[in-house]
Amino acid sequence: MIDARIKAQMDPIDTTLPAPEREPERQFYFMKKCREIIRAKEKELGRPLSADVVTFGCQMNARDSEKLLGILKEIGFEESDSEEADFVLYNTCTVRDNANQRVYGRLGHLHSMKKAHPDKLIALCGCMIQEETVVAKIRQSYPFVDILFGTHNIYKLAELLYRRLTGTGMVVDVLKEADAVVEELPVERKYPYKSGVNIMYGCDNFCTYCIVPYVRGREHSRTPEEILCEIKRLVADGVVEVMLLGQNVNSYGKGLSKKTSFAELLREVEKIEGLKRIRFMTSHPKDLSDELIEVMKNSQKICRHLHLPVQTGSNRLLRQMNRHYTREDYLALVDRIRTAMPDISLTTDLIVGFPGETEEDLQDTMDIVRRVRYDSCFTFLYSKRTGTPAAVMPDQIPKDVAQDRFDRLLSLVQEISCEMSGRDAGQVKEALVESLDDHEDGYVTGRLGNNIMVHFPGDESLIGSIVPVYLKESRGFYYMGERV
Ligand code: SAH
Ligand code: SF4
Ligand code: F3S
Repeated sequence: MIDARIKAQMDPIDTTLPAPEREPERQFYFMKKCREIIRAKEKELGRPLSADVVTFGCQMNARDSEKLLGILKEIGFEESDSEEADFVLYNTCTVRDNANQRVYGRLGHLHSMKKAHPDKLIALCGCMIQEETVVAKIRQSYPFVDILFGTHNIYKLAELLYRRLTGTGMVVDVLKEADAVVEELPVERKYPYKSGVNIMYGCDNFCTYCIVPYVRGREHSRTPEEILCEIKRLVADGVVEVMLLGQNVNSYGKGLSKKTSFAELLREVEKIEGLKRIRFMTSHPKDLSDELIEVMKNSQKICRHLHLPVQTGSNRLLRQMNRHYTREDYLALVDRIRTAMPDISLTTDLIVGFPGETEEDLQDTMDIVRRVRYDSCFTFLYSKRTGTPAAVMPDQIPKDVAQDRFDRLLSLVQEISCEMSGRDAGQVKEALVESLDDHEDGYVTGRLGNNIMVHFPGDESLIGSIVPVYLKESRGFYYMGERV
């Protein structure tokens, strides 16, 4: 998408002068510089150059990847979804060790491709790269990687690429904390009709198992003006659904000069004409206010879905995890939410095998799952993250014990979500049509407010619109429907 606003900023920049100091002008300068080099390369090869951005991890990373791809397209790369591309960029996650292992595994594969095509560029960025041990390991064992950068300077991709293209050796640029928040850069959105919008960065909660506060830095909220302006622009560009993103959206607004709560922000977002649906992620139970419940209840646009990670049902472990609520607090909160919105869909995250966990703790977790009856749960095996307080807690749980508990919890979770998932059958609900159906000709796939998919007869012209659908039949985790 060539954005007129971006073009107006790019055009006046003179690449024969030294690089400007100010952002974002500096990055536009390097985008133009890289473009010159890429164009020459294209001529030489007689074909366009391609770039593949691979996202690991959460919605935050997915949004960052859209920004990274936006920069690469502006430079002149064609988007590719194959690792055969001329430039492969991994946007990494380190929340659990298996995310890291996946990256290392795939790097081996990239290495053999690079041996055959020495001009291939390989870059890694994101959460993993914020860890010193990871950078040391890549320098030592994967020296063929071209560029490494972290979470705080993704806006600098063009500058780092320029350094790599005009120099030798691995370019490494990792900052401990954000030096600047540079927002006005090109973005290549994955979906024309929906978009994530960052409302805050970082996390200050320091749950004892979690590495996110160390790799994403301190919590920082964007101003309501910036957020509303971005959403209005997205809506003008065809977006009908936004997902407001933050590690703990319920604490939005702390530290702003004009204090604004998350509920107040939502009220303002609701007023944006043309915007049809609002979602947000993630809600920390400790900060979910009655004001927010009230706003959701009265809203025409906020989806009736809350992702409310509980992690465990054991009060002892909740304390050890530094979550700042008890199971009683959590259950009372769920009660208030369901009283206000009986049809709400609730989902959660659960961790099994946290240090010191006993069979009794697991029973408490199973008990809370039975009481709340989640629509779906993400169940994770505890993963030890070096540098977090839980990594050095006594009584780390042996793998086989944790796995056995995990399997038992998972079967309970699946049993309940299977019962819950068909509960809207026979009703009419609104669906945002996202794509043509992969499996059946003449059908489209839409997403309901509670995130469940529905397949129904329709054609391409419906993509991006919100239509009422009769949910004829539940098929486990999706519905078959008909337009009404
Ligand atoms: N900020 C969000 C979650 C971000 S991480 C929140 O607080 O809800 C997403 C999920 O990963 C967490 O909810 C937690 O369940 C899980 N997680 C985080 N660290 C983990 C670890 N060390 N081992 C296993 N799961 C972990
Ligand atoms: Fe991690 Fe806790 Fe922050 Fe979520 S709230 S990102 S689990 S520290
Ligand atoms: Fe992973 Fe970073 Fe998100 S560690 S879960 S990608 S904030």
